[in-house]
Amino acid sequence: MRDASFNAQLRRKAQLVNNTLQRLLASQQINSDLKEVLRYTLEAPGKRVRAALVLWCCELVSPPGAEINHNAEIAAAAVEMVHTYSLVHDDLPAMDDDDFRRGQPTCHKAFDEATAILAGDALLTLAFEILAKEIDEPAVAVRLIGQLAEAAGPAGMIAGQFLDTRCSMPSKPVGATPDDANLVSRIEAIHTNKTAKMFRCAAACGAICGEADESQFDCLCEYGLKIGLGFQIADDILDVCASSEQLGKTAGKDARAGKMTYPAVVGIEKSKQLAKKLADDAVALLAPFGPKADTLRQLAIALLQRTR
Ligand code: IPE
Ligand code: IPE
Ligand code: MG
Ligand code: MG
Ligand code: MG
Repeated sequence: MRDASFNAQLRRKAQLVNNTLQRLLASQQINSDLKEVLRYTLEAPGKRVRAALVLWCCELVSPPGAEINHNAEIAAAAVEMVHTYSLVHDDLPAMDDDDFRRGQPTCHKAFDEATAILAGDALLTLAFEILAKEIDEPAVAVRLIGQLAEAAGPAGMIAGQFLDTRCSMPSKPVGATPDDANLVSRIEAIHTNKTAKMFRCAAACGAICGEADESQFDCLCEYGLKIGLGFQIADDILDVCASSEQLGKTAGKDARAGKMTYPAVVGIEKSKQLAKKLADDAVALLAPFGPKADTLRQLAIALLQRTR
């Protein structure tokens, strides 16, 4: 593992998407107060892992030495806009009721609830506008829009968030009862929908921009789904094990809120094992790509070893 160089590569991708987001937002003709709110949420220091996934998947299937792919940069920005909208709404009092995000007060705390609802709506809509207007070929734009709508919509993230708000941990202790199989399949459905499908979408968008063939596309989608589920399991573990300072958001909230999480359902150790198994499975899926996929292999491992 070349950790230092992987982290440097991730930082470069984050910088690239930060620049794209800044440029896209600056060029929008929108009310300056609203633009300030959007900048507050969008330009806060997110890790940008979904954006990096778009860009790396595109590079993986592109010919060696290919130029920086404009479509992939736009798709990466669109994915980050939808992701940021999802955080703004996820933090609302009616959802997780969180006060901190990305190391600063949440949008509804810094402004107010109506503003946060509208800022989320704006980012979600803007993502599709930029895909429609900035992608070079209409056929590519339509495919990207389809992927993003499917992942973020009612059969994707919204389904997951919907279930998330409805499922809380039963008060009985967790043990080896037949019921637990039920809980495990429920938590897997929640996490797959609310988080993994957006990772799958990021991989799919990169593959589309790089003109992947069908089998490359399928491999990368499956890889994205696996690391996405692992990512949410790691998020649940971090909520238990990390500090608020480290995370830039309030730690320990899931248990207090009675959330259904992997640690709550199967315990911390089993959660770690499951996340590791998902990363291993994701890495195995990359075999057909050979050494060219090393960065994606490192990403799968880095996402479960992360500390924020
Ligand atoms: C947080 O996502 C929400 C989850 C799906 C767990 P990230 O941990 O990627 O948040 P940012 O973008 O880095 O703030
Ligand atoms: C959020 O999951 C998933 C989204 C779709 C936004 P969490 O509620 O666990 O994310 P955090 O912990 O608030 O970042
Ligand atoms: Mg939530
Ligand atoms: Mg939350
Ligand atoms: Mg969480």
